[in-house]
Amino acid sequence: MAKVALVTGANKGIGYAIVKNLALKYTELQRTQSLTIYLSARNKSLGETSLTELQKELKPQKILSDDGGNVDLKFMRIDLTDEQTMENAKEDLLKNHGGLDILINNAAMAFKGSAFDVNVVRTTFATNFYGTLKLCNYLLPIIRPEGRLINIASSAGRLGILSQELAREFTNDDLDVDGLIALMKKFEDAVEKGTWAEEGWPTNSYGMSKVGVTALTRILARRVNSEGKDILVSACCPGWVRTDMAGPAATLTTDQGAETPVFLALDETTVPQANNGEFWKRCKVAQW
Ligand SMILES: NC(=O)c1ccc[n+]([C@@H]2O[C@H](COP(=O)([O-])OP(=O)(O)OC[C@H]3O[C@@H](n4cnc5c(N)ncnc54)[C@H](OP(=O)(O)O)[C@@H]3O)[C@@H](O)[C@H]2O)c1
Repeated sequence: MAKVALVTGANKGIGYAIVKNLALKYTELQRTQSLTIYLSARNKSLGETSLTELQKELKPQKILSDDGGNVDLKFMRIDLTDEQTMENAKEDLLKNHGGLDILINNAAMAFKGSAFDVNVVRTTFATNFYGTLKLCNYLLPIIRPEGRLINIASSAGRLGILSQELAREFTNDDLDVDGLIALMKKFEDAVEKGTWAEEGWPTNSYGMSKVGVTALTRILARRVNSEGKDILVSACCPGWVRTDMAGPAATLTTDQGAETPVFLALDETTVPQANNGEFWKRCKVAQW
């Protein structure tokens, strides 16, 4: 059966490079099944323009189906703040492919500078944490056996930004999604009351949204394991990558930033039984 991958926030930056390198690496591995990759974006026009640009960029490599290869690139609109687009995505994937094999949750936002108040926290969480959580709720159930779910987290969301007591709560193996949401709300409330620092939270809405994404990854990994599903669930940091989000001083190219997520999507030695729920950096398991 043909394989299907979906990368969110792929009209630019690391997401665009993930789609490109997934196509290149998949071809290099000489897998026999064809692969359809959905370059997903919240803005239809930006997404379709990027799709055309990538098809042009890959033309000389002759890896796309139009040129005799076995990779197809398509656009799909998903906005992490619009649940209807997630429901539509699920329906379209089921109707056109009967499921999904690789989901890379890459889309995210970050406020520039040191903006920090409860509205900044809520806006950041709405996309990065709740948006990712909702899309996982829609699409994880349709990921097929041997499939992969990769959440792009960040070293900015390392456990070290929390007090030891809070870090223990986020790493508790009994934590479930409701418990995680309660912890994320506790942070929001503390910011609203002005008590976040004394309670052991950081002054960092983006970092906290990524703490949530990594904790969510561990919870989903435990869930698929307990359901006996053969799906690899991983969180990773792409490194410090030159994009609109990180700025021009960052050290890595977008192709370098795509390395770990593409590795997690395609590497056959990385398996759920041994690796589910890990946090990865530079294609290796890293400390969260
Ligand atoms: N760059 C780094 O150094 C770095 C380091 C660690 C982790 N990361 C993570 O890597 C991922 C990619 O970041 P990047 O640096 O490539 O950032 P970027 O260039 O700013 O790209 C972010 C992408 O996410 C999309 N997006 C934002 N809000 C969205 C929403 N509500 N729904 C759907 N898509 C949305 C953006 O779409 P628009 O173009 O429409 O805004 C864009 O396509 C993010 O998860 C980021 O947190 C980056």
